[in-house]
Amino acid sequence: MQIETFELERNQSLYENTVEFNLTESGIHPYTLRELLTEEQQQQVLDLRLGYGQTNGAPELRATLASYYRGCNEDNIIVTNGSAEANFVAFWSLLEPGDEVVMMLPNYQLLYGLSRSLGCEVKPFHLREGQNWAPDLDELESQLSDKTRVIAVCNPNNPTGAILSRGSMDRIVELAQARDCYILSDEIYAGSELDGVETTSFLALYEKTIVASGLAKSLSHPGLRIGWLAGPRHIIDAAWHHHDYTSISTGIISQYVANVILQPEKRLQVLNRGRDLLQVNVPIVQEWVQAHAENFRLIPPRAGGMAFVGYNLDINSSELVTRLREEKSVLIVAGDWFGMDNFLRLGIGGQTGELVAGLELMDEFLTELRSA
Ligand SMILES: Cc1ncc(COP(=O)(O)O)c(C=O)c1O
Repeated sequence: MQIETFELERNQSLYENTVEFNLTESGIHPYTLRELLTEEQQQQVLDLRLGYGQTNGAPELRATLASYYRGCNEDNIIVTNGSAEANFVAFWSLLEPGDEVVMMLPNYQLLYGLSRSLGCEVKPFHLREGQNWAPDLDELESQLSDKTRVIAVCNPNNPTGAILSRGSMDRIVELAQARDCYILSDEIYAGSELDGVETTSFLALYEKTIVASGLAKSLSHPGLRIGWLAGPRHIIDAAWHHHDYTSISTGIISQYVANVILQPEKRLQVLNRGRDLLQVNVPIVQEWVQAHAENFRLIPPRAGGMAFVGYNLDINSSELVTRLREEKSVLIVAGDWFGMDNFLRLGIGGQTGELVAGLELMDEFLTELRSA
C-alpha cells in the first residue's frame, strides 16, 4: 500500500527538537503531571496496575467522553492513540476502493493521504481566504456524487483557525443527508475559541456523524497520546475491530490522566488557560503582521494555537522555512505542506516569550532576505 509523505509531520519529526524556537505546534502549551494532578491523584498513578485494560478504552473514561456528545453513551465512544489513530481507524474501517471523499481544504494532511492510499478519490471543497475562510458550499455541492461516502471537515479548521457558521454547518448537513453519506468531523480544536463560545459538534446536528478528537490541541496534552471517536454504534464497533490491528489499546496511565482532565471543572480550567494564552498571543502576531503589512496578511484565527499568514515575497514557502531554520533556528510550517505556497503557519499556543523571540528572529531573517 503506497502512501505519500506526510510533509508536516515528517518535517516536525526531523526538526522540532533540533531548533531553539519551535513555532510549529498548533496546540496549547502542555502541562507537567505535577502541575496537573493533585498529590492524591499522583499517588493513584503510582498504584495503577499496568495491564492492557479494556482495549476500546476504560468504561469510566468512555462514559465521561460520552457526556460531551448529545445522545451518546459509552458504546458510542472508542479511545485511541491520539486523534491521528482515531481518524485512521475511522477511514480504514469506512472506506472501500472507488469511494469518494469530499474534503474541506486546506486541512490536516492525514485523511487526504490516507483516503488516496485506500484507493479512494479525494474531491476538495475550499475555504476561501477572500471570504474570511468561509467554505465554498457551491463547490461542495458540485463535488458530491453517488460515490461519495464521506464529507470530511475540520472544525475549527487547521490551519486557518476558522470556524464554520451555524448556517454553513446546517447546509453541510443538508447536503450529507441528501446523499445519505457520513460526515467525518475532526473537532480537536474545539474548546480553544477566542470568544469563549464552544463550537457545536456536528454530532448534535446529524446522526451519521463521526467525530474525531483528542487531548492534543485545545486540551493541551499531546504527550498523553489520547484521542477518540464518537459516533454511531456500528461505526464505533467497526473502528474497534480495526483498532485491534493498529495498537490494541491506549496506555493505562494516559487513560487515567485523561479522565482527570475531562472532568467538567478541570476541563474548563485547562481550556480557560489556553484561551487566556491565545488572548495574549493572537494580538502579538497581529501586530507583527501589521508591522510587515507590505508583505504579510492575516485573517486572525478564531480558535486553535495557529495563525495562517499569507505573504507576497518572492520565495517559496518550503525554501523560506528551511532558510529560517538553518539561519535563525526557528521552525515554522510551510504553506506548501498544506498544498498552499505563499502561506506560513505560525504556532501561537506556546509560551509568549518564545513566540516573541521567534518573531524577532523572523524580523532579522526578513531584513537580511530583503537586503540580499
Ligand atoms: C486536525 C488535526 N487532527 C488530528 C491531529 C493529530 O492529533 P493527535 O496528536 O491527537 O494525534 C492533528 C495534529 O496536528 C490535527 O491538526
